[in-house]
Amino acid sequence: MSGYLLEMKGIAKRFDGVPALDGIDLAIRPGECIGLCGENGAGKSTLMKVLSAVYPHGTWDGEILLDGQPLRARSVRETEEAGIIIIHQELMLVPELTVAENIFLGNEPTLPGGRLNYPAMNHRAEEILRELKLPDVNVVLPVKNYGGGHQQLIEIGKALNKNARLLILDEPSASLTAAEIEVLLEIIRDLKAKGVACVYISHKLEEVAAICDTIVVIRDGRHIATTPMAAMSVDRIIAQMCGRELNQLYPSLPHEVGEVVMEARHVTCYDPDQPLRKKVDDVSFQLRRGEILGIAGLVGAGRTELVTAIFGSYPGKYEAEVWLDGRRVDTSEPLEAIRAGFALVPEDRKQHGIVRDLSVGENITLSVLGRYARLTRIDDMLEARAIDEQIRRLALKAASPALPITALSGGNQQKAVLAKMLLTGPRVLILDEPTRGVDVGAKFEIYKLMLELAAQGISIIMVSSELAEVLGVSDRVLVMGEGQLRGEFVNKDLTQEMVLAAAIGQPASRAAEGAPV
Ligand SMILES: Nc1ncnc2c1ncn2[C@@H]1O[C@H](COP(=O)(O)OP(=O)(O)OP(=O)(O)O)[C@@H](O)[C@H]1O
Ligand SMILES: [Mg+2]
Repeated sequence: MSGYLLEMKGIAKRFDGVPALDGIDLAIRPGECIGLCGENGAGKSTLMKVLSAVYPHGTWDGEILLDGQPLRARSVRETEEAGIIIIHQELMLVPELTVAENIFLGNEPTLPGGRLNYPAMNHRAEEILRELKLPDVNVVLPVKNYGGGHQQLIEIGKALNKNARLLILDEPSASLTAAEIEVLLEIIRDLKAKGVACVYISHKLEEVAAICDTIVVIRDGRHIATTPMAAMSVDRIIAQMCGRELNQLYPSLPHEVGEVVMEARHVTCYDPDQPLRKKVDDVSFQLRRGEILGIAGLVGAGRTELVTAIFGSYPGKYEAEVWLDGRRVDTSEPLEAIRAGFALVPEDRKQHGIVRDLSVGENITLSVLGRYARLTRIDDMLEARAIDEQIRRLALKAASPALPITALSGGNQQKAVLAKMLLTGPRVLILDEPTRGVDVGAKFEIYKLMLELAAQGISIIMVSSELAEVLGVSDRVLVMGEGQLRGEFVNKDLTQEMVLAAAIGQPASRAAEGAPV
């Protein structure tokens, strides 16, 4: 016996004749955790969709062996029965169903007579959530009540509820905080100890280095290298991914911070489900011309709520006063906010960022279609030129702007959303987790773009859970905790520890250099 749980041999997959995977081999032992690394569009998700029969046998070339026997699955149900469980990059939860219903979706326990056994379901769901350190989530409430990080953990809970021999995690941690990632890694270690194999995909390479035994790097659909992690480093992974050394993670571009242009006063957001509970509690702050303002905090700190209230897209009841150039402006609806000079790139691109039925190009020009309308006819030439310019500016990898947006890799969808908002020519650009699921090279490009925009006088608010990135690009940092502003620092000699201490409400972090503004 080979000792392998699973082998993929010579896997090749084309989309409309264009190769996405070109002869990839991958072998996995029981209890082994493989880190599958590659740039946006390298083919990681596609390879895992082949493995889990999202693309059924017959729609690709090559061979898959499970326990040494050919596996020719025609459906995800079949691979699940074989113990291959995939957690997709894009969340697959049904927003209207309860947390417990989502966890059991497709394998609900029933009572004699066929009715669903809700008590059993809810009880088991609670157990799973305790394992995920989410005891405050109510399993009988709809999933849509919870934010991105919680939803991602619930999605993981759904997988834990199935009997996995091989667990595939495609960007499981994109919207998790450092503490939540620790919980996730702990769970994976447990599974490994029980002999469960994992394929772990993440652009957070520290995490990959921490959990994986073996690193498989692919580039442009081809296998580049398979190396034990013990013989690797994060820098080596990056070099293999990009095909070159990347010696700088954050670009530097001097830009001048000018006068106050925007002010948010007394922003308060109420929990849509518990109207007395405040998710943001009377937060006020200022933003200067050409400034990059980072907003840090733990998931649930109220950061997304704060920026969506400013942009008029907060779903519940809220109060907010928004001032631009010393004048009160109406941002009660996103359209008003865009007109006033605001743009927001949302955290959850699947729900709020992209229109799934439209092409890449149509998505990009969606928010400014009026500009290309000449007597109800849209000026195709102008529109095509604007789209091309954005695609080039962001190094967006798409075979053609006419492709459906859903055909782009996750990271490239994120760039399309960014392109759409940039086209509105904003004065205040709000980015909520802008580099989620974006590879290291493309992250650098996004930071560079942010710095260039700032140098042109555009003011940027960036919400991010990646402290390194907050410290890497911000001029000033606001720290939120439990809906309140817990700290405000000039980003000079500021450390991750200082920001974290403020986030969890420890005083004494307003140290001398990173002094309050
Ligand atoms: N349904 C589809 N139709 C056409 N092309 C597709 C489709 N799905 C993926 N592709 C293309 O296949 C290539 C690989 O995409 P894939 O989603 O596997 O990348 P990835 O490595 O997962 O990237 P990311 O890190 O951004 O998630 C990309 O060029 C993508 O545009
Ligand atoms: Mg992917």
